[in-house]
Amino acid sequence: MAREFMFLAFSLSCVAIYMSISFLSGWKDNSTAVKPEFANFHITQRVDETSTNRMSLTQTGYHPTAQSNVTKLVPASLPTCGRPVTNFVFIKVHKTASGSTFMVLARFGRNHGMTICYPKRHRKAIHNQLSYPSGKLTKSDCRPSPGRKYNLIIHHSVMNKPAMDRVMEPGTKYIGIFREPLNHFRSIFFWKNKISRRNKNPLGAFLNRNHDRKRSYSKHHNFQAYTMGFPKRLMASKNESQIYETIRTIAGWYSVVLITEYWEESLVLLRRKFCWRLYDILHTTDRLHALHTKKEHIPLTTEQKQNHRKMSNIDYMMYDYLNKTFWQRVTNEGPEFWEEVKYYKTLNSEVNKHCNSVGGKRVFPAGKWSQEFVIDSTFCEEWKWKEGRWALACWDVVGKQNEETK
Ligand SMILES: *[C@@H]1O[C@H](CO)[C@@H](O)[C@H](O)[C@H]1NC(C)=O
Ligand SMILES: *[C@@H]1O[C@H](CO)[C@@H](O)[C@H](O)[C@H]1NC(C)=O
Ligand SMILES: *[C@@H]1O[C@H](CO)[C@@H](O)[C@H](O)[C@H]1NC(C)=O
Ligand SMILES: *[C@@H]1O[C@H](CO)[C@@H](O)[C@H](O)[C@H]1NC(C)=O
Repeated sequence: MAREFMFLAFSLSCVAIYMSISFLSGWKDNSTAVKPEFANFHITQRVDETSTNRMSLTQTGYHPTAQSNVTKLVPASLPTCGRPVTNFVFIKVHKTASGSTFMVLARFGRNHGMTICYPKRHRKAIHNQLSYPSGKLTKSDCRPSPGRKYNLIIHHSVMNKPAMDRVMEPGTKYIGIFREPLNHFRSIFFWKNKISRRNKNPLGAFLNRNHDRKRSYSKHHNFQAYTMGFPKRLMASKNESQIYETIRTIAGWYSVVLITEYWEESLVLLRRKFCWRLYDILHTTDRLHALHTKKEHIPLTTEQKQNHRKMSNIDYMMYDYLNKTFWQRVTNEGPEFWEEVKYYKTLNSEVNKHCNSVGGKRVFPAGKWSQEFVIDSTFCEEWKWKEGRWALACWDVVGKQNEETK
């Protein structure tokens, strides 16, 4: 009987999870914390099990003044976390919020003195390509770093695990990113694309024509799968189980794949898997790219959407797989994950508010999910940096390391 009851409760919670997720808003549509309802479900369930003190803290989010006794509540998982991962490749897929991710990871890399494989030929270009679109990469493509192995790649590259493993320090981890394919299409369509003003709905017109089928991939179809490592030769495969197997293999190369629609949640998952501090994933809430055009959001017909689905079949299958895997992993983290997400969003918005107003020094006391840290005017100055400036900061680390080696 008890077992049946538990099963029922479990099923109900699954339903709650699925229902509430579908109400989540898209990428940065709303900069305030959006917590799915199922997170509340878990938290209310936990009220019975734990002290009410602890619950009230998590319900109110981050309150610096109420933090004095919180350090005691640091869960066992925080201090027992081993060494932070400081050897990774980020596959930067165009138009997936990868620019914002780039800035978070570049800041982490700079703060940890990581040795970046910096595209050798261009020093300042912002949208530096490292091994995009060819996927070919050898040590000689990186700016030389005598006596050191590379432990950071964050520039546009196509996933090529054997080649990257050869360039990187042993044991490197991979981070990917993926966006809902229609959202991705809407965004990338207007990128480097001059559209006639008279054309009211260029997206729809494009999908009506339904071209691009000859090439194995393009920016309009299966672009994300290609960048993440799906082989060109299988793009036209009609064998679904072969495609599925390949997707599974590719997904297995990555320690974490961020999902653009749940970007901040993804960063929290990354923090946990890589044993980082919450401080490491703080990010500016300024929009990186202004919306290209209102035309990006024009409604499409069912048939047009269907066309895109056919055209970009691998991207859809891959998103489906990665999104499912993502939510499985989040569920495995347990209900505390949502407490942390809420805490993180509030903390992040406090940091942004501070830097956008008074700036200067401020101490953020330790809390349940983060150690004490201090920000100052330098920190807030850097908060305004864009991708190119962060790239330069990573370049400078290698420069200093090379000086020391001499
Ligand atoms: C992602 O996965 C969740 C859980 O399976 C699902 O509810 C949601 O609709 C998916 N998101 C998209 C954009 O497909
Ligand atoms: C953002 O979300 C909150 C709650 O989730 C809502 O109250 C608010 O109206 C939203 N703001 C915008 C600009 O959509
Ligand atoms: C913090 O804990 C100390 C003793 O452990 C107690 O005396 C004090 O009142 C607590 N402060 C708050 C704000 O709860
Ligand atoms: C489809 O792919 C699977 C797995 O790679 C393979 O075992 C099977 O033989 C393929 N089916 C056909 C009809 O080619």
